[in-house]
Amino acid sequence: MKILVTGGAGYIGSHTCVELLQKGYEVVVADNLSNSSKESLNRVVSITGKSLKFYNADVRNSRAMDKIFTDNDIDWVIHFAGLKAVGESCAKPIEYYDNNLNGTLVLLQVMKKHGCKKIVFSSSATVYGDPEVLPLTEECKTGGTTNPYGTSKYFQEIMLNDVYKSDNEWTVVLLRYFNPVGAHESGLIGEDPKGIPNNLTPYIAKVAIGELKEVGVFGNDYNTHDGTGVRDYIHVVDLAKGHVAAIDNIGTAGVYTYNLGTGVGYSVLDVIHAFEKACGHPLPYAIKPRRAGDIAACYADPKKAKEELGWEAKLGIDDMCSSLWNWQTKNPEGYKK
Ligand code: NAD
Ligand code: UFG
Repeated sequence: MKILVTGGAGYIGSHTCVELLQKGYEVVVADNLSNSSKESLNRVVSITGKSLKFYNADVRNSRAMDKIFTDNDIDWVIHFAGLKAVGESCAKPIEYYDNNLNGTLVLLQVMKKHGCKKIVFSSSATVYGDPEVLPLTEECKTGGTTNPYGTSKYFQEIMLNDVYKSDNEWTVVLLRYFNPVGAHESGLIGEDPKGIPNNLTPYIAKVAIGELKEVGVFGNDYNTHDGTGVRDYIHVVDLAKGHVAAIDNIGTAGVYTYNLGTGVGYSVLDVIHAFEKACGHPLPYAIKPRRAGDIAACYADPKKAKEELGWEAKLGIDDMCSSLWNWQTKNPEGYKK
């Protein structure tokens, strides 16, 4: 079976390519390398000993996408390609809506033209906005997003639902990721953020290696066990396996929505202390004001994915931190040689 992975050179995409190849799927990647490097795919090939096909293509370019579907008999699409930085999306809403919404529209047009009607979409826990109840189940209210990135994910879910309503032959899988962290156990692939990281764990890793001075803890007056923000961190390899489980198990057309999380919430201080264990030394941190747009706590009820896909996260916070530390120490400059 042949899978087109858009955004396959990126962080979650590259880990998913590994899992797909190891399970015997054929992989075709379309990525414009706007936030990644071709080197990640070379390393996917080293890890798996299998080859994949790469197209340097923008998903908004219908001619380029059309060629990919003409050259390859694609059975499923896993659609990771998109921009993902919450803060940047507030400064550049036009670029975010263009990339994320137009990218998905062009992809769907080309899929329809070629009769490929199976798509797994990278959605996010951000579609739940500020949760009214925890843990979050798939039935919880969506919308009320607070930034263009989150709104683009919410809109894309609506677009995909409408496509299914218009043609019941489509299979649409909406995977709502919680907070993906960590790296492949080989230390060959991992997250390679450009500039100073916005997300917690890559920031901690750069403090641990001495590149940044201290971790800023954004608020310690939330209603959580230690006052700092609580999130459901999920190992990127578990997350990648969730995509394979969806493709392996969903055989009937329809719209399927799953939370991919662990169901466990860790605070910012919990994560800092877990990382101290992984790197073997204390990490300097300082309490800072709350970050605009942040919520106190967010974690999943992951039962539905377990019941329907037979998938559950297996790796814990210590695996997440040690694999990230392994990646960070082996690749202090990311994919730059
Ligand atoms: P990433 O930036 O590492 O990967 C995205 C990839 O898409 C990159 O390789 C980039 O070059 C490519 N890309 C972007 N726009 C493109 C376009 N127009 N055409 C072709 N390629 C394009 O990000 P990631 O963390 O791997 O995220 C993958 C997906 O998962 C994204 O859709 C993201 O919104 C979603 N997601 C990520 C998180 C997270 O915390 N990492 C959480 C929830 C959802
Ligand atoms: N945090 C700090 N200091 C930092 C960075 C983050 O204290 O330097 C805190 C935040 O305030 C929050 C927690 O660490 O409490 C996690 O923050 P991240 O920026 O790592 O992640 P978010 O939960 O804000 O958002 C992430 C992705 C989104 C995605 C969401 C899904 O950035 O794209 O997870 O739950 F939608």
